[in-house]
Amino acid sequence: MVDKNEAILQEASRALELILKESLNAADKEQIVKKSIEHFTEHVSPDWLRYYKSISKNSVLVEWADSMEAFKDPHGNEFIDCLGGFGINIAGHQNIEIVKAVEAQLNRQALHNHELLDPLRGYLAKLVSMSAPGNLKYVHFCSEGTEAIELALSLALMTSDNCFIISTVNAFHGKKFGGLSGTGKATCRKLNLPIIQDVQYVEFGNAKAAETAIKSLIAVGETVAAMIVEPIQIAAGVLIPPEDYLQQIREICDHYGVLLIIDEIQTGMGRTGMFWACEDYGVVPDILVFGNAFGGGVMPITGIIFKKHLWVEELADNPWILGQSTSGGNPLACAAAIATIKFIIENDISDQIAKKGDYIMEKLKDLQMRHPILLDVRGKGLLIGLEFPTPEIGTAVSQALFQRGVVTGGAFNNAKIIKIEPAGVISLETIDKIIAKLDGAMSMVAQEFALSSSQSAPDAVFLTN
Ligand SMILES: Cc1ncc(COP(=O)(O)O)c(C=O)c1O
Repeated sequence: MVDKNEAILQEASRALELILKESLNAADKEQIVKKSIEHFTEHVSPDWLRYYKSISKNSVLVEWADSMEAFKDPHGNEFIDCLGGFGINIAGHQNIEIVKAVEAQLNRQALHNHELLDPLRGYLAKLVSMSAPGNLKYVHFCSEGTEAIELALSLALMTSDNCFIISTVNAFHGKKFGGLSGTGKATCRKLNLPIIQDVQYVEFGNAKAAETAIKSLIAVGETVAAMIVEPIQIAAGVLIPPEDYLQQIREICDHYGVLLIIDEIQTGMGRTGMFWACEDYGVVPDILVFGNAFGGGVMPITGIIFKKHLWVEELADNPWILGQSTSGGNPLACAAAIATIKFIIENDISDQIAKKGDYIMEKLKDLQMRHPILLDVRGKGLLIGLEFPTPEIGTAVSQALFQRGVVTGGAFNNAKIIKIEPAGVISLETIDKIIAKLDGAMSMVAQEFALSSSQSAPDAVFLTN
Protein backbone atom coordinates (compact mmCIF):
# COMPACT_ATOMS: atom_id res chain seq x y z
CA MET A 1 0.00 0.00 0.00
CA VAL A 2 2.88 2.33 0.90
CA ASP A 3 4.47 1.57 -2.47
CA LYS A 4 1.22 2.26 -4.25
CA ASN A 5 0.76 5.61 -2.51
CA GLU A 6 4.40 6.45 -3.13
CA ALA A 7 3.90 5.80 -6.85
CA ILE A 8 0.73 7.94 -6.92
CA LEU A 9 2.55 10.77 -5.15
CA GLN A 10 5.41 10.65 -7.60
CA GLU A 11 3.07 10.72 -10.58
CA ALA A 12 0.97 13.58 -9.17
CA SER A 13 4.07 15.58 -8.25
CA ARG A 14 5.47 15.23 -11.75
CA ALA A 15 2.19 16.41 -13.33
CA LEU A 16 1.94 19.32 -10.88
CA GLU A 17 5.52 20.30 -11.54
CA LEU A 18 4.66 20.66 -15.24
CA ILE A 19 1.47 22.61 -14.47
CA LEU A 20 3.35 25.03 -12.22
CA LYS A 21 6.36 25.53 -14.50
CA GLU A 22 6.59 28.87 -16.26
CA SER A 23 8.57 27.42 -19.15
CA LEU A 24 9.41 23.92 -20.30
CA ASN A 25 12.86 22.58 -21.05
CA ALA A 26 13.55 20.18 -23.95
CA ALA A 27 13.17 17.10 -21.76
CA ASP A 28 9.80 18.32 -20.41
CA LYS A 29 8.48 18.87 -23.93
CA GLU A 30 9.52 15.40 -25.06
CA GLN A 31 8.08 13.88 -21.91
CA ILE A 32 4.68 15.59 -22.18
CA VAL A 33 4.16 14.22 -25.69
CA LYS A 34 5.51 10.75 -24.90
CA LYS A 35 3.60 10.42 -21.64
CA SER A 36 0.34 11.77 -23.13
CA ILE A 37 0.43 9.04 -25.76
CA GLU A 38 1.24 6.41 -23.14
CA HIS A 39 -1.45 7.61 -20.71
CA PHE A 40 -4.17 7.80 -23.34
CA THR A 41 -3.24 4.35 -24.70
CA GLU A 42 -3.16 2.70 -21.30
CA HIS A 43 -5.76 4.61 -19.30
CA VAL A 44 -8.25 6.19 -21.73
CA SER A 45 -8.21 3.80 -24.71
CA PRO A 46 -6.04 3.26 -27.77
CA ASP A 47 -9.11 4.01 -29.89
CA TRP A 48 -9.25 7.55 -28.62
CA LEU A 49 -5.64 7.90 -29.66
CA ARG A 50 -6.53 6.70 -33.16
CA TYR A 51 -9.30 9.30 -33.20
CA TYR A 52 -6.88 12.06 -32.17
CA LYS A 53 -4.53 11.00 -34.95
CA SER A 54 -7.17 11.34 -37.62
CA ILE A 55 -6.28 14.85 -38.73
CA SER A 56 -2.61 14.59 -37.92
CA LYS A 57 -2.18 11.28 -39.78
CA ASN A 58 0.46 9.30 -37.88
CA SER A 59 1.68 11.95 -35.48
CA VAL A 60 -0.29 13.11 -32.45
CA LEU A 61 -0.95 16.72 -31.70
CA VAL A 62 -0.74 17.54 -28.01
CA GLU A 63 -2.10 20.95 -27.03
CA TRP A 64 -0.39 22.82 -24.26
CA ALA A 65 -1.06 26.56 -24.42
CA ASP A 66 -3.39 28.94 -26.23
CA SER A 67 -4.00 32.59 -26.97
CA MET A 68 -6.61 34.57 -28.92
CA GLU A 69 -6.89 32.75 -32.32
CA ALA A 70 -4.49 29.89 -31.86
CA PHE A 71 -3.00 27.20 -29.67
CA LYS A 72 0.47 25.75 -29.32
CA ASP A 73 1.89 22.28 -28.76
CA PRO A 74 4.53 21.79 -26.03
CA HIS A 75 7.27 22.50 -28.60
CA GLY A 76 5.79 25.92 -29.32
CA ASN A 77 4.39 25.07 -32.78
CA GLU A 78 1.36 27.26 -33.34
CA PHE A 79 -1.92 26.20 -34.95
CA ILE A 80 -4.75 28.47 -36.05
CA ASP A 81 -7.83 27.09 -34.34
CA CYS A 82 -10.76 26.72 -36.73
CA LEU A 83 -12.64 24.26 -34.52
CA GLY A 84 -12.34 25.81 -31.08
CA GLY A 85 -13.82 23.04 -28.93
CA PHE A 86 -17.04 23.17 -30.94
CA GLY A 87 -17.29 26.93 -31.01
CA ILE A 88 -16.28 27.77 -27.43
CA ASN A 89 -13.80 30.48 -28.36
CA ILE A 90 -16.06 33.27 -29.57
CA ALA A 91 -14.25 35.64 -27.21
CA GLY A 92 -10.90 34.12 -28.21
CA HIS A 93 -8.55 31.80 -26.37
CA GLN A 94 -7.32 33.06 -22.99
CA ASN A 95 -9.33 36.27 -23.23
CA ILE A 96 -7.57 38.53 -20.73
CA GLU A 97 -10.74 40.06 -19.26
CA ILE A 98 -12.39 36.70 -18.77
CA VAL A 99 -9.30 35.14 -17.23
CA LYS A 100 -8.95 38.17 -14.93
CA ALA A 101 -12.52 37.76 -13.67
CA VAL A 102 -12.04 34.06 -13.01
CA GLU A 103 -8.72 34.61 -11.25
CA ALA A 104 -10.22 37.29 -9.01
CA GLN A 105 -13.14 35.02 -8.13
CA LEU A 106 -10.78 32.09 -7.54
CA ASN A 107 -8.80 34.13 -5.05
CA ARG A 108 -12.04 34.80 -3.13
CA GLN A 109 -14.16 31.64 -3.49
CA ALA A 110 -14.17 28.86 -6.08
CA LEU A 111 -17.25 26.71 -5.51
CA HIS A 112 -20.45 27.43 -3.64
CA ASN A 113 -22.01 26.00 -0.52
CA HIS A 114 -25.59 25.55 -1.77
CA GLU A 115 -27.28 26.49 1.53
CA LEU A 116 -26.39 30.16 1.04
CA LEU A 117 -27.19 32.48 -1.82
CA ASP A 118 -24.32 32.65 -4.28
CA PRO A 119 -24.61 36.15 -5.71
CA LEU A 120 -22.89 35.60 -9.07
CA ARG A 121 -25.55 33.08 -10.13
CA GLY A 122 -28.15 35.81 -9.59
CA TYR A 123 -26.17 38.48 -11.45
CA LEU A 124 -25.60 36.10 -14.36
CA ALA A 125 -29.25 34.98 -14.48
CA LYS A 126 -30.28 38.62 -14.80
CA LEU A 127 -27.77 39.22 -17.61
CA VAL A 128 -29.01 36.16 -19.51
CA SER A 129 -32.63 37.25 -19.25
CA MET A 130 -31.68 40.77 -20.34
CA SER A 131 -29.92 39.37 -23.41
CA ALA A 132 -32.52 36.74 -24.30
CA PRO A 133 -35.28 37.36 -26.82
CA GLY A 134 -38.92 37.98 -25.84
CA ASN A 135 -40.23 37.13 -22.40
CA LEU A 136 -37.78 34.40 -21.45
CA LYS A 137 -37.23 34.86 -17.75
CA TYR A 138 -36.03 32.12 -15.39
CA VAL A 139 -32.52 30.76 -15.77
CA HIS A 140 -30.90 27.51 -14.56
CA PHE A 141 -27.25 26.70 -14.98
CA CYS A 142 -25.29 23.47 -15.36
CA SER A 143 -21.91 22.47 -16.77
CA GLU A 144 -22.42 20.44 -19.94
CA GLY A 145 -24.56 20.88 -23.01
CA THR A 146 -26.15 17.46 -22.73
CA GLU A 147 -27.09 18.28 -19.11
CA ALA A 148 -28.75 21.51 -20.19
CA ILE A 149 -30.72 19.58 -22.83
CA GLU A 150 -31.84 17.17 -20.10
CA LEU A 151 -33.01 20.10 -18.00
CA ALA A 152 -34.97 21.46 -20.96
CA LEU A 153 -36.60 18.09 -21.71
CA SER A 154 -37.38 17.50 -18.02
CA LEU A 155 -38.96 20.91 -17.70
CA ALA A 156 -41.08 20.34 -20.81
CA LEU A 157 -42.27 16.94 -19.59
CA MET A 158 -42.92 18.18 -16.04
CA THR A 159 -44.78 21.32 -16.89
CA SER A 160 -46.88 20.05 -19.77
CA ASP A 161 -47.75 16.64 -18.34
CA ASN A 162 -47.46 15.41 -21.94
CA CYS A 163 -45.27 12.59 -23.20
CA PHE A 164 -43.78 12.81 -26.65
CA ILE A 165 -40.84 14.88 -27.85
CA ILE A 166 -40.42 15.77 -31.51
CA SER A 167 -36.82 15.98 -32.66
CA THR A 168 -35.17 16.07 -36.07
CA VAL A 169 -33.23 13.54 -38.15
CA ASN A 170 -29.48 14.03 -37.68
CA ALA A 171 -30.04 16.41 -34.77
CA PHE A 172 -27.24 16.68 -32.24
CA HIS A 173 -28.28 17.38 -28.65
CA GLY A 174 -25.59 15.50 -26.71
CA LYS A 175 -24.38 12.01 -25.98
CA LYS A 176 -25.71 11.15 -22.52
CA PHE A 177 -29.09 9.52 -21.87
CA GLY A 178 -31.28 12.63 -21.83
CA GLY A 179 -29.53 14.65 -24.51
CA LEU A 180 -29.05 11.51 -26.56
CA SER A 181 -32.80 10.95 -26.62
CA GLY A 182 -33.02 13.97 -28.88
CA THR A 183 -29.91 13.13 -30.91
CA GLY A 184 -31.03 11.78 -34.28
CA LYS A 185 -28.21 9.37 -35.09
CA ALA A 186 -28.60 5.60 -34.71
CA THR A 187 -24.93 4.80 -34.01
CA CYS A 188 -25.04 7.03 -30.93
CA ARG A 189 -28.45 5.85 -29.74
CA LYS A 190 -28.36 2.10 -30.35
CA LEU A 191 -25.92 0.96 -27.67
CA ASN A 192 -27.57 3.22 -25.10
CA LEU A 193 -31.11 1.93 -25.52
CA PRO A 194 -33.51 2.17 -23.81
CA ILE A 195 -33.31 5.94 -23.52
CA ILE A 196 -36.37 8.20 -23.62
CA GLN A 197 -38.45 6.23 -26.10
CA ASP A 198 -41.24 8.69 -26.74
CA VAL A 199 -39.34 10.68 -29.33
CA GLN A 200 -40.42 11.06 -32.96
CA TYR A 201 -37.84 12.19 -35.50
CA VAL A 202 -38.89 14.37 -38.39
CA GLU A 203 -37.01 15.77 -41.35
CA PHE A 204 -35.05 18.92 -40.45
CA GLY A 205 -36.12 22.01 -42.37
CA ASN A 206 -39.54 20.56 -43.18
CA ALA A 207 -42.18 22.19 -40.94
CA LYS A 208 -44.97 20.15 -42.56
CA ALA A 209 -43.24 16.93 -41.44
CA ALA A 210 -43.25 18.18 -37.85
CA GLU A 211 -46.94 19.04 -38.05
CA THR A 212 -47.80 15.64 -39.53
CA ALA A 213 -45.94 13.86 -36.72
CA ILE A 214 -47.68 15.91 -34.03
CA LYS A 215 -51.09 15.38 -35.65
CA SER A 216 -50.52 11.63 -36.00
CA LEU A 217 -49.47 11.27 -32.37
CA ILE A 218 -52.52 13.18 -31.21
CA ALA A 219 -54.74 11.10 -33.54
CA VAL A 220 -53.64 7.88 -31.81
CA GLY A 221 -54.28 9.35 -28.37
CA GLU A 222 -50.70 10.39 -27.50
CA THR A 223 -49.67 13.75 -26.11
CA VAL A 224 -46.78 15.89 -27.33
CA ALA A 225 -44.77 17.85 -24.77
CA ALA A 226 -42.21 19.64 -26.90
CA MET A 227 -40.33 19.99 -30.13
CA ILE A 228 -36.56 20.40 -29.84
CA VAL A 229 -34.63 21.89 -32.73
CA GLU A 230 -31.34 23.62 -33.58
CA PRO A 231 -31.48 26.83 -35.63
CA ILE A 232 -28.69 25.33 -37.77
CA GLN A 233 -27.89 21.61 -37.73
CA ILE A 234 -24.16 21.78 -37.24
CA ALA A 235 -23.30 18.13 -36.60
CA ALA A 236 -25.35 17.15 -39.65
CA GLY A 237 -23.05 19.26 -41.81
CA VAL A 238 -23.96 22.91 -41.09
CA LEU A 239 -27.45 22.59 -42.56
CA ILE A 240 -29.34 25.86 -42.75
CA PRO A 241 -33.12 25.43 -42.87
CA PRO A 242 -35.46 27.49 -45.08
CA GLU A 243 -35.73 31.11 -43.89
CA ASP A 244 -39.27 30.68 -42.51
CA TYR A 245 -38.73 27.22 -40.94
CA LEU A 246 -38.39 28.27 -37.29
CA GLN A 247 -41.32 30.67 -37.59
CA GLN A 248 -43.50 27.93 -39.02
CA ILE A 249 -42.40 25.55 -36.26
CA ARG A 250 -43.27 28.24 -33.69
CA GLU A 251 -46.77 28.58 -35.19
CA ILE A 252 -47.28 24.81 -35.30
CA CYS A 253 -46.16 24.44 -31.67
CA ASP A 254 -48.53 27.24 -30.61
CA HIS A 255 -51.40 25.69 -32.53
CA TYR A 256 -51.02 22.24 -30.94
CA GLY A 257 -49.96 23.43 -27.48
CA VAL A 258 -46.46 22.00 -27.87
CA LEU A 259 -43.49 23.71 -26.17
CA LEU A 260 -40.66 24.85 -28.43
CA ILE A 261 -37.11 24.16 -27.22
CA ILE A 262 -34.35 25.79 -29.27
CA ASP A 263 -30.85 24.35 -28.80
CA GLU A 264 -28.43 27.28 -29.16
CA ILE A 265 -25.55 25.51 -27.45
CA GLN A 266 -23.33 26.12 -30.46
CA THR A 267 -25.15 28.87 -32.37
CA GLY A 268 -25.59 31.23 -29.40
CA MET A 269 -23.39 34.04 -28.06
CA GLY A 270 -22.90 35.69 -31.45
CA ARG A 271 -21.57 32.72 -33.45
CA THR A 272 -23.95 33.34 -36.37
CA GLY A 273 -23.71 37.14 -36.30
CA MET A 274 -26.61 37.66 -33.84
CA PHE A 275 -26.37 37.21 -30.08
CA TRP A 276 -28.90 34.36 -30.46
CA ALA A 277 -29.50 32.74 -33.85
CA CYS A 278 -33.27 32.51 -33.22
CA GLU A 279 -33.42 36.33 -33.10
CA ASP A 280 -32.47 36.33 -36.77
CA TYR A 281 -35.71 34.48 -37.49
CA GLY A 282 -37.82 36.58 -35.11
CA VAL A 283 -38.67 33.50 -33.05
CA VAL A 284 -38.90 33.24 -29.26
CA PRO A 285 -38.78 29.66 -27.95
CA ASP A 286 -40.39 28.56 -24.69
CA ILE A 287 -37.04 27.18 -23.57
CA LEU A 288 -33.69 28.34 -24.92
CA VAL A 289 -30.64 26.14 -24.28
CA PHE A 290 -27.18 27.68 -24.29
CA GLY A 291 -23.62 26.54 -23.64
CA ASN A 292 -20.26 26.13 -25.37
CA ALA A 293 -19.10 29.77 -25.78
CA PHE A 294 -21.05 30.91 -22.72
CA GLY A 295 -18.04 30.43 -20.38
CA GLY A 296 -15.80 32.40 -22.72
CA GLY A 297 -13.57 29.43 -23.50
CA VAL A 298 -12.31 29.62 -19.91
CA MET A 299 -14.89 27.77 -17.76
CA PRO A 300 -17.55 25.19 -18.66
CA ILE A 301 -21.03 26.54 -18.05
CA THR A 302 -24.32 25.87 -19.82
CA GLY A 303 -27.96 26.38 -19.00
CA ILE A 304 -31.53 27.06 -19.97
CA ILE A 305 -33.74 30.13 -19.90
CA PHE A 306 -37.50 29.67 -20.04
CA LYS A 307 -40.84 31.43 -19.81
CA LYS A 308 -42.16 32.15 -16.34
CA HIS A 309 -45.40 30.18 -16.76
CA LEU A 310 -43.41 26.94 -17.10
CA TRP A 311 -42.54 27.24 -13.42
CA VAL A 312 -45.58 25.26 -12.37
CA GLU A 313 -46.94 24.62 -8.88
CA GLU A 314 -45.06 21.32 -8.41
CA LEU A 315 -41.82 23.15 -9.07
CA ALA A 316 -42.81 26.02 -6.80
CA ASP A 317 -43.34 23.47 -4.02
CA ASN A 318 -40.14 21.53 -4.77
CA PRO A 319 -37.81 23.67 -6.91
CA TRP A 320 -34.99 21.11 -6.64
CA ILE A 321 -37.05 18.60 -8.71
CA LEU A 322 -35.76 20.28 -11.86
CA GLY A 323 -32.29 19.28 -10.87
CA GLN A 324 -29.60 21.33 -9.22
CA SER A 325 -26.13 19.95 -9.72
CA THR A 326 -23.33 20.33 -7.20
CA SER A 327 -21.00 22.29 -9.43
CA GLY A 328 -23.31 23.67 -12.17
CA GLY A 329 -23.33 27.47 -12.25
CA ASN A 330 -20.53 27.70 -9.71
CA PRO A 331 -18.96 31.10 -8.89
CA LEU A 332 -15.90 30.55 -11.10
CA ALA A 333 -18.02 29.60 -14.10
CA CYS A 334 -20.45 32.47 -13.43
CA ALA A 335 -17.56 34.96 -13.23
CA ALA A 336 -16.36 33.70 -16.63
CA ALA A 337 -19.83 33.97 -18.19
CA ILE A 338 -20.46 37.48 -16.79
CA ALA A 339 -17.13 38.68 -18.25
CA THR A 340 -17.93 36.91 -21.54
CA ILE A 341 -21.32 38.60 -21.96
CA LYS A 342 -19.74 41.98 -21.17
CA PHE A 343 -16.90 41.36 -23.65
CA ILE A 344 -19.28 40.29 -26.43
CA ILE A 345 -21.63 43.26 -25.99
CA GLU A 346 -18.92 45.89 -25.34
CA ASN A 347 -16.92 44.87 -28.41
CA ASP A 348 -19.97 44.21 -30.58
CA ILE A 349 -18.59 40.75 -31.31
CA SER A 350 -21.83 39.58 -32.97
CA ASP A 351 -21.59 42.38 -35.52
CA GLN A 352 -17.87 41.74 -35.98
CA ILE A 353 -18.67 38.08 -36.60
CA ALA A 354 -21.35 38.99 -39.16
CA LYS A 355 -18.83 41.14 -41.07
CA LYS A 356 -15.97 38.65 -40.79
CA GLY A 357 -18.40 35.92 -41.88
CA ASP A 358 -19.23 37.88 -45.06
CA TYR A 359 -15.51 38.45 -45.65
CA ILE A 360 -14.49 34.80 -45.36
CA MET A 361 -17.57 33.58 -47.23
CA GLU A 362 -16.72 35.70 -50.28
CA LYS A 363 -13.18 34.32 -50.30
CA LEU A 364 -14.41 30.76 -49.85
CA LYS A 365 -16.82 31.16 -52.78
CA ASP A 366 -13.88 32.34 -54.90
CA LEU A 367 -11.96 29.24 -53.87
CA GLN A 368 -14.96 27.10 -54.76
CA MET A 369 -14.86 28.40 -58.35
CA ARG A 370 -11.26 27.23 -58.66
CA HIS A 371 -11.51 23.93 -56.77
CA PRO A 372 -14.07 21.43 -58.10
CA ILE A 373 -13.58 19.22 -55.00
CA LEU A 374 -15.19 21.97 -52.91
CA LEU A 375 -18.81 21.18 -53.68
CA ASP A 376 -20.50 23.67 -51.38
CA VAL A 377 -19.74 26.45 -48.94
CA ARG A 378 -22.50 27.39 -46.53
CA GLY A 379 -22.95 29.00 -43.17
CA LYS A 380 -23.87 32.02 -41.11
CA GLY A 381 -21.42 34.35 -39.42
CA LEU A 382 -18.38 32.34 -38.38
CA LEU A 383 -20.13 28.98 -38.48
CA ILE A 384 -19.22 27.60 -41.86
CA GLY A 385 -19.35 24.19 -43.52
CA LEU A 386 -17.23 23.13 -46.50
CA GLU A 387 -18.63 20.15 -48.37
CA PHE A 388 -16.41 17.68 -50.23
CA PRO A 389 -17.46 14.76 -52.49
CA THR A 390 -16.53 12.00 -50.00
CA PRO A 391 -15.61 11.63 -46.31
CA GLU A 392 -12.13 10.53 -47.48
CA ILE A 393 -11.58 13.78 -49.38
CA GLY A 394 -12.97 15.83 -46.47
CA THR A 395 -10.58 14.06 -44.09
CA ALA A 396 -7.65 14.47 -46.50
CA VAL A 397 -8.30 18.23 -46.73
CA SER A 398 -8.37 18.48 -42.92
CA GLN A 399 -5.09 16.57 -42.75
CA ALA A 400 -3.51 18.82 -45.38
CA LEU A 401 -4.73 21.88 -43.48
CA PHE A 402 -3.29 20.47 -40.28
CA GLN A 403 0.10 20.05 -41.98
CA ARG A 404 -0.16 23.75 -42.81
CA GLY A 405 -0.92 24.73 -39.21
CA VAL A 406 -4.72 25.01 -39.28
CA VAL A 407 -6.96 22.78 -37.16
CA THR A 408 -10.50 22.03 -38.35
CA GLY A 409 -12.99 19.29 -37.58
CA GLY A 410 -15.46 17.20 -39.51
CA ALA A 411 -19.18 17.30 -38.86
CA PHE A 412 -20.27 14.57 -36.41
CA ASN A 413 -22.99 13.14 -38.62
CA ASN A 414 -21.34 13.82 -41.96
CA ALA A 415 -17.56 13.58 -42.45
CA LYS A 416 -17.85 15.01 -45.99
CA ILE A 417 -18.18 18.37 -44.28
CA ILE A 418 -15.37 20.29 -42.61
CA LYS A 419 -16.39 22.96 -40.13
CA ILE A 420 -14.74 26.37 -39.95
CA GLU A 421 -15.56 27.86 -36.54
CA PRO A 422 -12.69 30.17 -35.62
CA ALA A 423 -12.49 32.52 -32.67
CA GLY A 424 -14.85 35.48 -33.04
CA VAL A 425 -11.90 37.80 -32.45
CA ILE A 426 -9.98 36.41 -35.42
CA SER A 427 -8.23 39.07 -37.53
CA LEU A 428 -8.80 39.55 -41.26
CA GLU A 429 -5.08 38.78 -41.77
CA THR A 430 -5.53 35.39 -40.13
CA ILE A 431 -8.62 34.74 -42.25
CA ASP A 432 -6.47 35.48 -45.32
CA LYS A 433 -3.89 33.00 -44.06
CA ILE A 434 -6.56 30.30 -43.63
CA ILE A 435 -7.80 30.92 -47.17
CA ALA A 436 -4.27 30.65 -48.62
CA LYS A 437 -3.62 27.44 -46.69
CA LEU A 438 -6.97 25.96 -47.74
CA ASP A 439 -6.14 26.83 -51.34
CA GLY A 440 -2.86 24.89 -51.07
CA ALA A 441 -4.45 22.02 -49.16
CA MET A 442 -7.22 21.53 -51.71
CA SER A 443 -4.78 21.64 -54.67
CA MET A 444 -2.68 18.97 -53.02
CA VAL A 445 -5.63 16.72 -52.17
CA ALA A 446 -7.19 17.08 -55.63
CA GLN A 447 -3.89 16.01 -57.15
CA GLU A 448 -3.50 13.09 -54.76
CA PHE A 449 -6.99 11.79 -55.46
CA ALA A 450 -6.72 12.33 -59.23
CA LEU A 451 -3.32 10.60 -59.44
CA SER A 452 -4.59 7.18 -58.64
CA SER A 453 -8.14 6.14 -57.97
CA SER A 454 -6.84 2.78 -56.79
CA GLN A 455 -4.61 4.46 -54.23
CA SER A 456 -5.97 3.72 -50.77
CA ALA A 457 -7.74 6.70 -49.25
CA PRO A 458 -6.80 8.04 -45.81
CA ASP A 459 -8.90 6.78 -42.91
CA ALA A 460 -12.09 8.81 -42.59
CA VAL A 461 -12.36 8.44 -38.86
CA PHE A 462 -12.53 11.89 -37.41
CA LEU A 463 -15.96 12.97 -36.35
CA THR A 464 -16.49 15.89 -34.07
CA ASN A 465 -19.64 17.61 -32.99
C1 LIG B 1 -26.13 21.93 -30.60
C2 LIG B 1 -25.50 21.12 -29.50
N1 LIG B 1 -26.28 20.52 -28.61
C3 LIG B 1 -25.76 19.79 -27.60
C4 LIG B 1 -24.40 19.67 -27.43
C5 LIG B 1 -23.84 18.82 -26.32
O1 LIG B 1 -23.01 19.54 -25.47
P1 LIG B 1 -21.93 18.74 -24.55
O2 LIG B 1 -20.94 18.15 -25.47
O3 LIG B 1 -21.35 19.82 -23.69
O4 LIG B 1 -22.67 17.74 -23.77
C6 LIG B 1 -23.54 20.30 -28.35
C7 LIG B 1 -22.07 20.21 -28.22
O5 LIG B 1 -21.30 20.85 -28.87
C8 LIG B 1 -24.11 21.04 -29.41
O6 LIG B 1 -23.33 21.66 -30.32
